[in-house]
Amino acid sequence: MKELDQNVKTLPSWRGDGKKVLILATSPRENGNSHLLAQSLYEGALEAKHDAVITMISPYVLQLMRYCGDCRDEEGNCGLQDDFSKIFRSLYQPAEAVVFATPIWWYGMSGHMKNFLDRISCEISARNKSGIQAKQDIIGKKMGLLLSAEESNFACRMPIVAQFNELCRHLRCPFVGHVSGFGNLRGEVSKDPLDPLGSARKLGHDLFDIEETDYELDSERPHEVWSVDRTSLPNYWR
Ligand SMILES: Cc1cc2nc3c(=O)[nH]c(=O)nc-3n(C[C@H](O)[C@H](O)[C@H](O)COP(=O)(O)O)c2cc1C
Repeated sequence: MKELDQNVKTLPSWRGDGKKVLILATSPRENGNSHLLAQSLYEGALEAKHDAVITMISPYVLQLMRYCGDCRDEEGNCGLQDDFSKIFRSLYQPAEAVVFATPIWWYGMSGHMKNFLDRISCEISARNKSGIQAKQDIIGKKMGLLLSAEESNFACRMPIVAQFNELCRHLRCPFVGHVSGFGNLRGEVSKDPLDPLGSARKLGHDLFDIEETDYELDSERPHEVWSVDRTSLPNYWR
């Protein structure tokens, strides 16, 4: 296993050739289990000659999502003081595939990953001057998910996979694969006999060859929920 191909103090940038694959390592534990999965996927993507970049987010995304009305500037830009917008605009928007790597924390994704996803809302808001373009840009990317956990119980990962699946559906981003690796100590995932590092590497290599099918149902979502008559919805759907 190579050392992480990045200095956590410097954000990576695209090389400019190959398909753009952004890998976000969302655990704050450097060289931890989800990080190793991310690194393996990164190596597979490089083998396939993709233009892959990997970065941790915890050194850069420091602020929690708030009520945007309180902190966006006159142009609608995020007013929080950290590098989230930089990552979103220079890496996330141009990426053709995005892979999130997260440890399971209390049967959910890491708070860092959840916060990253939450903060996308500000960037794609119609109140943000570049929001409409940003929303266009985040549609259609290939998406992948890497999980590390102590418990191998299958049910543990289902809520995260289901949530990720829903957000991919909503964003019309094909969810092309997920890999789970088990381990608790730093790096222990490399001992998992099902070889999740190998699977992550393969997923990175094959990201653009995998077809995802049949999950693009949409319903209309007016911005103001009660501006349309929804009284016909039975109570158990409310
Ligand atoms: C705050 C916290 C909550 C955790 N919750 C769970 C959990 O619900 N289920 C589980 O299997 N492991 C849980 N773990 C263990 C981690 O998922 C596991 O050690 C993982 O491999 C860590 O990945 P990392 O090295 O990338 O941080 C938790 C660890 C932490 C720090």
